[in-house]
Order: sequence, then structure tokens, then C-alpha cells
Amino acid sequence: MAIDLKGRSFLTLLDYTPEEIRYLLDLAKDFKKKKKAGELHKYLEGRNIVLLFEKTSTRTRCAFEVAGADLGMGVTFLSPNDSQMGKKESISDTARVLGRMFDGIEFRGFRQETVEILARDSKVPVWNGLTDKFHPTQVLADLLTIEEKKGHLKGLNFTYFGDARNNMGNSLMIGCTKMGINFTACAPKSLFPSEELVEKCSAIAAENGCSVKLTEDVSEGAEGADILYTDIWVSMGEPESIWAERIKLLRPYQINSDVMAMAKPDAIFMHCLPSFHDTNTTIGKEIAEKFGLKEMEVTDRVFSGLQSVVFDEAENRMHTIKAVIYATING
Ligand code: CP
Ligand code: NVA
Repeated sequence: MAIDLKGRSFLTLLDYTPEEIRYLLDLAKDFKKKKKAGELHKYLEGRNIVLLFEKTSTRTRCAFEVAGADLGMGVTFLSPNDSQMGKKESISDTARVLGRMFDGIEFRGFRQETVEILARDSKVPVWNGLTDKFHPTQVLADLLTIEEKKGHLKGLNFTYFGDARNNMGNSLMIGCTKMGINFTACAPKSLFPSEELVEKCSAIAAENGCSVKLTEDVSEGAEGADILYTDIWVSMGEPESIWAERIKLLRPYQINSDVMAMAKPDAIFMHCLPSFHDTNTTIGKEIAEKFGLKEMEVTDRVFSGLQSVVFDEAENRMHTIKAVIYATING
């Protein structure tokens, strides 16, 4: 059956079938090849998209800007200080205005509900560039990176260490189970994903011949893993006061050389970035001074080591986002 994603929004991977995700990954591979060959692909000349950011970003913003420019589109960026949205105009009214001017809307912010309202009321494709709940465009880039490194997806063992109920933990559990990858969340119980989502993903896993596992035990999480993944311990939007508690909870789940050694010898290390693997950031420095911790979710040695593929992931954000924009605007 031919895949047609024209007019669809991209709010969570729960809305996409494995065949549709496969289609987007293959399209991203095509675009990546064209980009590397210097072959122009301004297929969407004359179209325009808008990027709405309530939270900060390097990768997601740049990926949308470059992907849009490569496709020949006009790209407008709006930070929270630049628009009326939320303060003087409701999300719904903003959606109806933007939908009259733009062919697609990207949103990064706090509530998943906001991206849902934008999609419902703008009548154009809306892409979720991260909310508190989900980060689906990141997972698409992660799946592409895994496939490039491992040659396939089905049957691989993926373990996520850290805050397993944040946007990355949630979205990776969905993306892995959709594509037949065995997913393990290795975290303290209080940071396990919600029972509701685990139930949903277990059903998805059963359909796709893979599994979902939750464990508090680091060696159980690491042994036999093909992919070890982590994210920062405190996400955007969470209060600074939570650092002390998170450090206490998640320190045992740091990915370091000992943990990597428990995984398969050819395992890869992944991270959505940004990462606190040294003290070369303002927050990294503050945490080091306050808690005496110079590396957090991953050690610098693993982050910079041969098994790390983090910058391939970052590059793949652009190729996969381009595929999403193209497929949903053009079909
Ligand atoms: N991974 C990711 O979304 O990075 P940014 O916050 O820089 O967009
Ligand atoms: N969980 C992180 C992901 C950043 C890409 C956050 O929301 O800050």
C-alpha cells in the first residue's frame, strides 16, 4: 500500500504506523544522499513554515531552518517574546491565523496539549519539536542513526538509562516498540514511565515481535544491550530545586566505562544532547561546585569514546526533519 502523509501532523510516534515510520526513514536516507552529493532539492519553493519556540534549542531549530532552506521554503522563527501567542491571543486563535499564512507549523514548548490545539485549529501540518511529554523528531533521527550503525532495527536490544518518564524516555519506548526493537528502561522506580504508556507500548511491542522491560538494576539493563542511551537528569521546564534529588536518584545510572563494558562489545552509545559530560557549561560548572560531580549522565570518556555516535544523531536531526516536512506538506 502506498504511503501518503500529506496533510498529517507529527505530534507523537503513537500516531504513526511502523510502515509510515519506515517510509520517513527511507525518505530521510534519500535526502541525506542528495545533500552529501550536493544535489539541490528545492522541491517546496514558494511554501513557507513557521517555527514557534517556548523553550531554547540548538539542534531542533537549526535542523528545521536548514531543512526548510534546502527545500527552498521561507522559514519564520518566533520566540516567546516575538508573538502574541498565549499572552494576548489564545493558542486556538494563533493557530487559525498562522494556518492562513503558512504551509506548516513547528512547535517546541511545555504542554503537549498546545501542539494538539495548533494541529486541530490551524488545518496545516504541525510538527512537535519537543514538549514535556514527547520528542518524536529526535527519535526519528535516533532510529536512522541506529540503522546506519547496525544495518537493521528489528531484534536489537535498546536500553535507556535515567529519567525514563521524560519526553525522551516516553518517545524512545514508543519508537523502539514500533520498529521491533526490544526496549528496556533502566531507572529508579519513581522515574519509570507511566503505567498507561507502558501498557500501550507493551501492546505495540507484542504486535511487532519485541518487548518492553523496566528494571532498577544497572547490570540487568546493560547486559546484552546493542544500544545504551541516556539524557540529562533535569529537563527544560523542571525547577532548579530538583537537581539535588535527581542527582541522588540517578547517580547510580550514569553511563560510564564499567556500564559500557557490560553491554555487547560492539554496543553504541547514544544521547539526544545537550549533555553534561564535563564542566564546560555554566550549569555543569555550578553542579560541580555544589555537588562535587564533574560528569553527570555520562562520563566524558564514554561520550568522547569510539562507541559514541552522538554527533551522527545530531546531524540526522536535519535529514529526518526534512523528510517529515516534505512528506506531510507534499505527500
Ligand atoms: N536534542 C535536541 O532536541 O536538542 P536541542 O534542544 O538543541 O534542540
Ligand atoms: N529531556 C530533555 C531533552 C532535550 C532534547 C529536555 O526536555 O530538556
